[in-house]
Formats: sequence, structure tokens, C-alpha cells
Amino acid sequence: MKRIENINLDKKRVIIRVDFNVPIDEKLNIVDDNRIKESLKTINYCLAKDCKIILLSHLGKIKSESDLEKNSLKNVSIRLSELLKKEVLFVPETRGKLVDEAVAKMKNQDIILLQNTRYEDLEGKKESSCDLDLAKYWASLGDVFINDAFGTCHRSHASNVGIAKFIKEAGIGFLVEKELDNLKMITDNPKHPFTVILGGAKIVDKIGTIKNLVKKADYILIGGAMAYTFLKAKGEEVGKSLIDEESLEFCQEMLKTNKIILPVDSVTTLDKDSTNYETKNKLDKNDIGVDIGNETRKLFSEYLKKSKTIFWNGPMGYYENELFQAGTKYLCEIIANLNAVAIVGGGDTASCIINMGYKDKFTHISTGGGASLELLEGKELPGIKI
Ligand code: 3PG
Repeated sequence: MKRIENINLDKKRVIIRVDFNVPIDEKLNIVDDNRIKESLKTINYCLAKDCKIILLSHLGKIKSESDLEKNSLKNVSIRLSELLKKEVLFVPETRGKLVDEAVAKMKNQDIILLQNTRYEDLEGKKESSCDLDLAKYWASLGDVFINDAFGTCHRSHASNVGIAKFIKEAGIGFLVEKELDNLKMITDNPKHPFTVILGGAKIVDKIGTIKNLVKKADYILIGGAMAYTFLKAKGEEVGKSLIDEESLEFCQEMLKTNKIILPVDSVTTLDKDSTNYETKNKLDKNDIGVDIGNETRKLFSEYLKKSKTIFWNGPMGYYENELFQAGTKYLCEIIANLNAVAIVGGGDTASCIINMGYKDKFTHISTGGGASLELLEGKELPGIKI
């Protein structure tokens, strides 16, 4: 694996695969620009080396024509330009004449961002199936390829693994480097006590990660909707809370490890979008659990306070409703005052914690959701391997 600083970039044409897959609202506004900000170090480094910079990224998934407009990278190019205080030319195509002409006209320190690489998925899933002709075309646009899209490293797509196969020289950027260095504190001999906080809804996608973490961690604190699947597996009433039925057996198996710490009380409501709620130790049959209660917040804090390493993936409640962010915020406040290595897996938890203003209080907030989980599962990431 070659690091960017060990590559001669002087005046070269550099293709940088970034992960600008940022959350956007219905009006196409960027809700959290952290991934764009985190890519600036590599881009600025290439500018200082007088490079011509060609940026590639995906945004969301493209399954039909109707996905095209809302997943255009146009607004991202505007935000990037604001952050860099420099023009970024957006090319609304992924290949062909427009792209060739724009690349041919580039001068040193010019930056162009091509359209969402997954536009190529509309016909024949060319990006996601790592189509080699497409990869060869993108590789032909540059001299060097830098993969700085950690969030996509668990994918084997044309714009990461594919390009690396066809270009003379390839390596990783500063963002990927920082991710690997920080996540090592979890994957390689974490300091004990090591506590994992898990939340969010689905367990099934995280089974491999949980199985691996349970071998390394001392305590696994479970919140979010996930907790109700564990509580149901224990035989408790969970009312109408969101349950991941296919994971009940797995939860029973995990409970036997005695490392799983479950909520002892919950914020409950009859409608998760309403403003009426109460805290209960036992749910009734119509209740929906939407956050960890006060007793659970205190219980979880006790485990966190004695920890030397903390890894957190998944919010503690239905954070889309601001009223149910309190449990997540409480734990942020506790961690902010600890002297422990505290790392957050990407995705919703990262956005939530950053939007609450705690970004600088953690050792590291990963830009990769699925990628960091796969790394923690012990898997080799194809985007890194290549
Ligand atoms: C992410 O948001 O986790 C990455 O950008 C990867 O996106 P994907 O799950 O759509 O491949």
C-alpha cells in the first residue's frame, strides 16, 4: 500500500476517488459536509504539487432515471469550491466528449469533478460491477490514482478497484491513511477495558462485526431500536418497537457471552413522530421504544467511565425526531469528558454527533459506515487491497 507522500506527484494529472456521498435533504441541500471537508487535505496537497486534479465520487444509488437529478454532484461541486476558495469545474457527464475536452483543457492546479460515477449503473451497473472498459477509460484520464474514499473501500467498483488495475501508479490519500491509523486502535490490541456502543435498527447487517467485537470487547452496550430485538430475544415485552425478527436467534447466542448490556428503561411513545412520550422500565403492548431512558444513560455512563477504548456505531434513539436525541447526546457529553480513545463508526452516528457539535471531542470520527464495520469484522477491504 503506497501512501500519497511516497508518490511523485509533481505536475501530474491525478485522479482522486473521493467519497462525496453526503446526506442531502428534499431540497437537495447538503445536510452534513464532513466528508467534503475531510477530503480537503489530499486535494490541497495535490494543488501544492501543481497537479491537474480530476475528482470522482458516487452519490447515493442510481436504480432508475428518477434517481438521476437528486443524485447529481452539482451542489457538491459548489460546496467544494466554497471550501477550497477556488473554482471547481463540474462536468455533468461520467465519460465521453465533454469529459475528454474538459480534461484536455486542464492547466496545472485546475480541478474538475465528474458527474456521479453511479450514473454508470443505469445501464448494466457498470460502476458497481467494476466494468473493466469503464475502469480503463477513467484510468486513461490521469497519470496517478489516489484512493481517498475510505467510505467506499469495502466496494469493488470501477472507480476504485477498477482504475487501480489500469493505472501506472496508485496509492492512498490522507483521509484513508488517517482512517486506517485510527481504526487500528480498535482492530489491533485495543486497550482494556474496551467498550462498544451499538445502536441503530438493523442487526442482520452487523452480525459479522458484532461476532468479531464480542471476542475483543469487555462490554457491549446496546441502544437504539436494536436493543428491542435483544430484549425480545430475552423474553421481554417490546410493544410495537422496531424489531429485526431474523436476528432473534443471533441475539440469544450473543446474550450468553454475558458481555451484552441492555437498557433498563426506555423513552416510549405511541407514535414516533409525536411530541408525547414517557419513560418506562417495562413497555406496554402499544409502546414504541424511541430512546434510552435516564437509568440506562447512567448505567451506560458507568461502563464508559471505566473504559480505556470506546467504539461507537449507531444512535441510541430515533434521532430523526429531535426529542429522541437526548440519550445519544448524554453519552456524547460523558465521552467528551473522558480520557479514553473514543472512535465513532461513520454513517448516521457520525452525522448526528457532528451536528450536535461534538466532532472535536472524539479521537476519531470515521467517514465510512459500512467500510469501518467491515474492517472491524476483520475483513480485508478491496479498495485498500488493490
Ligand atoms: C457510505 O455512505 O457508506 C459509502 O459512501 C458507501 O455507499 P454505498 O453503501 O452506497 O456503497
